[in-house]
Amino acid sequence: MNELSFHRREFLRFIAGSPLAAYAFSQDSLPAIAQPKDALSVMDFEPLAHKALPPAHWGYVAGGVDDDLTLRMNREAFAHYQLRARRLVDATTADLKVDVFGATWDMPLYVSAVGSQLVFHPDGELATARAAKAQKVMQMLSTVSSKSVEDVAKALGTPPWYQLYMPANWADTETMVRRVETAGCPVLVWTIDLLAGRNAETTSRLARQDTRDCMSCHITPPIGGSAVIRNRARPMFAGLSGEMNPSGANWSYVDRLKKMTKMKLLLKGIDTAEDAKLAVEHGVDGVIVSNHGGRATETGRGTIDLLPEVVDAVRGRIPVFVDGGFRRGTDIYKALAIGARAVGIGRPYIYGLASFGPEGVERVLEILRAELTLTMRQCGTPSIAKITRASVLRQGNPL
Ligand SMILES: Cc1cc2nc3c(=O)[nH]c(=O)nc-3n(C[C@H](O)[C@H](O)[C@H](O)COP(=O)(O)O)c2cc1C
Repeated sequence: MNELSFHRREFLRFIAGSPLAAYAFSQDSLPAIAQPKDALSVMDFEPLAHKALPPAHWGYVAGGVDDDLTLRMNREAFAHYQLRARRLVDATTADLKVDVFGATWDMPLYVSAVGSQLVFHPDGELATARAAKAQKVMQMLSTVSSKSVEDVAKALGTPPWYQLYMPANWADTETMVRRVETAGCPVLVWTIDLLAGRNAETTSRLARQDTRDCMSCHITPPIGGSAVIRNRARPMFAGLSGEMNPSGANWSYVDRLKKMTKMKLLLKGIDTAEDAKLAVEHGVDGVIVSNHGGRATETGRGTIDLLPEVVDAVRGRIPVFVDGGFRRGTDIYKALAIGARAVGIGRPYIYGLASFGPEGVERVLEILRAELTLTMRQCGTPSIAKITRASVLRQGNPL
């Protein structure tokens, strides 16, 4: 062996042993995850889901809007916050229980509304419901679901929270609201961040790469064609016009919706102090700080950065929830410290669902539970009430 090939061999051995190389290989090939329990972090499921899904379906879940800046900021903004870990507090256990509208949740985490879950698993939202039930986690069901609220309630063992895309006329809205009320849903979540439409460019680009014949599976054309006709085929639009998201909606719609139902009314997509104050004034029961997972308006602001102004504006009068980019127990911890009651996830559980069905979703919830538990123990905050603004810094400064 000449000197050059010896050095080459040594260099390759060095590279192969480095964590960076292991990471690069795991991105290139897939992480060695033969079963859900092999996953170490919730994002281990992302490349598996990517592999499992055809381009159009991958684009549906992974895409944001415009340049996907807000999507990226949802993740990057967590780096603006640091933890203040207190020591010598009994770290034996942590109690993750939290009260939400009089119900005791096992942990401050829920699976947020994601539409059309048949795309990810043959049982769609029912598969998610089974996992949520097993992990005692609340499921929020989308208006554009593949399965009905009644069937999801059965699979979940309790009625889900219902996410409303408001139908375009009041008669249809009333019919939908009555239906979910009859199904026993305790909470109605009106999503208000898509009323002006959106530019889901990445999703459209990836759909163009898909050469399959959509109509071999879909009943109505999923791309192009009429969204109204597509909606009519969905279980929650049975007998309704299929039109939704009235662009003329204003705060008087909140008053009318509030009067229409005994369910708790939440607004999903509140991103500013001004709107948070208006929400309280109009009597809503809670707000969700959300930018639809970077899929609505390209604001360039991560939701964790929006949370402080909303929490401050609300001043404890109603609970504040948040979603967008939550991938680690420390992310959840930061939101709780800023003042969120609970945190929602979208893509992580969908990646679990697309990879391994309900077991994948369960593993995602298990990992986040374990990570949050560990963070609470490490930071000397063994119950949710102990996590306060003193537990966190923003850019190194107190909030
Ligand atoms: C594929 C997909 C579909 C979604 N569908 C809905 C929906 O029907 N209604 C809704 O209010 N939000 C919907 N969302 C937004 C989620 O409820 C949630 O706000 C977002 O996914 C949280 O960000 P994350 O994916 O980074 O966790 C969807 C998100 C994704 C990724």
